[in-house]
Amino acid sequence: MRLNKFMASCGVASRRKCDEIIMEGRVKINAKVVKKLGVQVDTTKDLVTVDDGAIRIKGDCEYYLLNKPVGYVTTVSDPQGRKTVMDLIPESRKRLYPIGRLDYNTSGLLLVTNDGELTQKLTHPSFELGKTYVAKVLGEVTLLDVAKLRGGVDIGGFVTSKAEVNLISANKKESRVKLTIHEGKNRQVRKMFKAIGKNVVELERIAIGKINLSGLKVGECRPLTDKEISYLKEV
Ligand code: URA
Repeated sequence: MRLNKFMASCGVASRRKCDEIIMEGRVKINAKVVKKLGVQVDTTKDLVTVDDGAIRIKGDCEYYLLNKPVGYVTTVSDPQGRKTVMDLIPESRKRLYPIGRLDYNTSGLLLVTNDGELTQKLTHPSFELGKTYVAKVLGEVTLLDVAKLRGGVDIGGFVTSKAEVNLISANKKESRVKLTIHEGKNRQVRKMFKAIGKNVVELERIAIGKINLSGLKVGECRPLTDKEISYLKEV
């Protein structure tokens, strides 16, 4: 496919405008700047970037970022008839589903898509993109507790790997802790606090890698931007 047509199919700009962008030296094919017009792209294997950001033909995939409220199940349909996260996503003819899961009582950032390849990548155990949570915990979390959580704790036959853990606030009554983990065991954050003798009473996921909730209210959802989609595919 001609480079300008490919760029237009990716939503960069009109073909004429794409020609200008090419002549400005902002486009690379496989890391080499291309300034000539009329160059062909092999859409199956060439990597095309504009201003060093990869571009792709807009396909059939949809991507949403949801701020999940407490009281919704992370599933496509619930046999018990409870509200599911899909109730909060716009109607689509695509078979959308959540990537990974948040507990019924956990709120925050959840990705929803029909991109099987991305889902496999993001949920694979070897995938190390950090997931960041804020936990409200009963009682005082001490610096010693923080050190334990950072180094790894036994959550029942599994020792968690190193985590970034910081106290937001702590007093005798309750503490707030921000932590980034690189695994996704079932109820992992709650179990990590259990392991140090503490109970989580509120849990919110605020980020996955560099993707964050940035102003999205609880219960709201929005499509991921092209930049966010490229980031998740390339990271
Ligand atoms: N850890 C938990 O304990 N619960 C979640 O929903 C996500 C991470």
